[in-house]
Amino acid sequence: MIPFPKLGSKRSFPLMGFSWPCLISFLWLLGCDPAEQASSCPEASARKLEPGCSSCHADLVQAWSRSPHARALGDPRGGGILGDFSVGELRLGGRGYRLGRSKSGIPWIEVEDGKGKWERYEVVHSLGHDPLQQYLLRFSRGRFQVPPIAWDARPKAEGGQRWFALSEARKPEDPLHWKGRFFTANGMCLECHVTGYRKGFDPEKMRYTSRWDEGGVRCAACHPKVPSTKAVSSLDLCGSCHARRLPLRDGAAPGSLFLDEYVPRLLEEPLYRPDGGIQDEVFVYGSFVQSRMHQAGVGCLDCHDPHSLQLKAPGNALCLRCHKAETFDRTGHHLHSEGSEAARCVTCHMPARTYMGIDPRRDHGLRVPRPDLAEASHSPSVCMGCHKERGEAWAAEALSKAHPRGRVARGGPRLPYGPILAAARRGEPGAAAGLARLIQDPQQAPIVRATALLELPRLPLAPEAKARALSLASEAMGDTHPLVRRAALGALGPLAPRLAPRLLDDPLRSVRVEAARVLARGEGKAWERAFAEYRASLAANADRPGAWLQRAILEQRRGELAQARASCRKSLALDPGFAPALVNWADLLRMENKDLEGLRLLEGFRSRHPGAQVVWQAEVLTLVRLGRRKQALDLVRRALRRFPGSRELLLYQNLLEKKK
Ligand code: HEC
Ligand code: HEC
Ligand code: HEC
Ligand code: HEC
Ligand code: HEC
Ligand code: HEC
Ligand code: HEC
Ligand code: HEC
Repeated sequence: MIPFPKLGSKRSFPLMGFSWPCLISFLWLLGCDPAEQASSCPEASARKLEPGCSSCHADLVQAWSRSPHARALGDPRGGGILGDFSVGELRLGGRGYRLGRSKSGIPWIEVEDGKGKWERYEVVHSLGHDPLQQYLLRFSRGRFQVPPIAWDARPKAEGGQRWFALSEARKPEDPLHWKGRFFTANGMCLECHVTGYRKGFDPEKMRYTSRWDEGGVRCAACHPKVPSTKAVSSLDLCGSCHARRLPLRDGAAPGSLFLDEYVPRLLEEPLYRPDGGIQDEVFVYGSFVQSRMHQAGVGCLDCHDPHSLQLKAPGNALCLRCHKAETFDRTGHHLHSEGSEAARCVTCHMPARTYMGIDPRRDHGLRVPRPDLAEASHSPSVCMGCHKERGEAWAAEALSKAHPRGRVARGGPRLPYGPILAAARRGEPGAAAGLARLIQDPQQAPIVRATALLELPRLPLAPEAKARALSLASEAMGDTHPLVRRAALGALGPLAPRLAPRLLDDPLRSVRVEAARVLARGEGKAWERAFAEYRASLAANADRPGAWLQRAILEQRRGELAQARASCRKSLALDPGFAPALVNWADLLRMENKDLEGLRLLEGFRSRHPGAQVVWQAEVLTLVRLGRRKQALDLVRRALRRFPGSRELLLYQNLLEKKK
């Protein structure tokens, strides 16, 4: 634990837990000889760890076994299935289901296919247990699919103990249909719910041979070798699963540096609001790294016990281990009656958002409420959760009265990024200057600076602004934080490929791989290694159509057009509705002067998937190239009826009308 002084007081807070001599005597009392034990612990590097652990670490094993980590994956043969499979027939979300159990007690689910036909699937595993449990059904080619119904595991008194639909029934061609890739657990779920996962996807046979050492998040997920001498920050350890991220290898080594194994999502729309608040299901990492608490060195283990996962103190006492009660746990600070819901620190600083209908999760951004910036940030303040009828201006007024020297009245210690990111996303004038300020501001969290870098090239930049952006990016490529280096490369590397080679031997894989992607060609040892790692990262994600698209782009840039076309086809085989791959395929045809063929491809796709805006755009551009301006203009107008206000389409319309 990091012994932070109580903020605003001179007292430092006491060290918790056993001291070393205490541990020895504890083991001795248990009848273990410490000398003997110390020798058996270091040898434990086997994959299956815990049976051997409980003899000496009984208390920790017990705390862990009652935690959600122990129950992250359930096996119908080993118990842990909470759902009631004796309910018979159900109709949920516009689809029929029948539930039951085989003679040997294994649960199954029959799903109606929308045309009155029923298909039966065996339940192979459960995921989670509180407040809901989901199920994995056995499919062909080694796949496990997640059906769109779940068991509400809350007590009956809270409305639980029932089946419910996670989404409405969808048509088979919809990418979000439950038999589609987004609900294939091998690629989408299991890696975080088990220990020692290898996905094992074979892109030739399009089948999985997924394996894992143990179900659930077990000792080995955090202690791959014991006792470990390597210090891993809790953020690297916990972040590997508590983050929206893409793995760079199949089978990440637990206990590695997060950015050596994964690429996290930045504060992109629609995952996060412009002020960084949670919107989609993003888990914890991307929120917590925005906080000033993280910047000051606070970690997950300052609040959570790693084994029981319980908070280290209940209610406001958790925060008051470091923050002064006399200052913050008072009406003078929070304006509400002490002890009320509105006076809980987490109500304002970690507001909850509910996912999957019944699962509230708390925003770990630990932000200060800013009703004064809500409008400019396009992000309603937490006050509006209860005072909607009074409005943001009222809330801002109340706060500046209560804190005449505070944030709302005078501004805070760091520039708020919400209004800047919101302005950039609306393409407002002056947005680029705001982004530049964020990128260069050392007070900002690296994830914020990286997000600003990502936004910069999306703005239309005048030539002198472009020159400034390039010099910014060049500087950011030498930044101390890998997230910033990587974002600088990705955002502006293609405009300045001269600058990328120096990051081919970056200490972190997530940066090296990005340098290889940006360059596409190179030579020398550093290049060879980074390029091999890049290819391996594409192979590790070979069950995702996006990885094949990346591969197609790489091959296209290397002049390997036949391979590039094959990669586009592979991408579409994995997801026939994956529009970017189709657009790229049409672009390959353009390079071979086969625009007519490309046009037919685009038209066919658009009639099957009219919701894909990029395909409409590509079709307009192809028509223009073929000299069919009138047809292009007609198509733009039709597209604008479907996607009103689209910046790209409006631009096309303007250009085409001007030239008519
Ligand atoms: C025979 C007794 C014994 C067994 C079995 C045992 N340990 Fe230990 N373990 C100890 C003792 C004693 C220590 C403290 C001394 C040390 O650090 O080497 C310890 C320390 C640890 C530490 C802390 C290391 C550090 O760097 O502070 C971890 C983690 C750990 N054990 C995990 C495990 C796991 C996981 C297992 C099961 C694979 C296990 N142990 C099995 C006796 C045991
Ligand atoms: C191997 C992936 C993995 C790692 C590593 C991991 N977690 Fe988890 N964690 C999970 C999963 C999966 C769940 C959900 C389990 C469930 O509900 O069945 C979970 C649940 C939790 C919960 C409980 C959430 C709730 O709804 O009550 C907390 C708290 C938590 N983890 C904290 C941590 C911390 C702290 C660390 C690092 C010390 C960590 N986790 C490391 C995968 C992981
Ligand atoms: C990146 C890691 C990761 C992936 C991938 C993942 N989960 Fe989880 N899952 C978690 C964590 C972490 C939690 C604990 C969530 C929390 O409370 O923040 C969790 C919790 C759950 C729970 C318990 C209920 C709850 O919300 O706490 C269920 C059920 C679940 N996940 C199902 C799934 C399914 C189904 C998929 C695939 C479609 C999936 N998970 C993919 C990490 C993951
Ligand atoms: C989610 C990650 C996680 C899992 C799972 C986990 N541990 Fe730990 N463990 C930690 C972390 C982190 C620490 C260091 C705690 C600290 O520094 O405060 C730790 C510390 C320990 C220690 C040192 C004593 C102590 O209390 O700090 C032992 C022993 C230990 N773990 C054993 C186990 C055993 C046995 C299991 C399986 C039952 C297990 N751990 C599962 C993360 C985990
Ligand atoms: C382990 C100590 C510790 C704990 C526990 C802790 N904090 Fe903090 N907190 C800090 C530190 C350190 C800072 C940074 C102070 C600084 O940089 O001036 C901070 C800053 C903050 C800030 C200011 C954020 C900003 O953007 O200016 C808020 C709000 C906050 N904490 C709320 C909480 C809440 C709510 C809890 C309980 C859920 C909590 N803290 C628990 C140590 C802690
Ligand atoms: C300042 C204290 C604090 C820190 C630091 C902290 N948490 Fe939490 N965490 C909380 C509180 C409070 C809750 C809400 C618990 C509840 O509602 O029962 C929570 C809830 C969670 C949950 C349950 C789901 C949710 O989002 O509500 C998970 C998972 C979790 N934390 C993981 C982490 C991880 C991983 C880290 C480090 C990256 C971390 N936490 C850092 C205080 C903290
Ligand atoms: C969880 C709901 C909740 C949230 C969130 C909340 N409030 Fe309140 N607020 C209340 C309730 C209930 C009362 C009346 C009882 C009381 O004073 O505790 C109240 C009373 C007040 C009052 C007292 C005077 C009046 O005119 O009613 C002010 C001022 C106020 N809130 C401002 C805010 C501000 C500013 C925020 C955001 C930082 C906020 N509240 C967030 C529920 C909430
Ligand atoms: C009703 C909402 C609300 C509640 C409840 C609340 N806070 Fe705050 N907190 C705020 C607002 C608003 C600010 C910014 C005040 C200002 O400076 O204008 C703030 C600021 C802070 C800061 C930053 C102070 C600084 O000067 O940088 C910390 C730390 C903090 N709160 C901790 C806590 C803790 C700990 C609790 C629980 C004991 C708590 N807050 C409860 C609304 C709340």
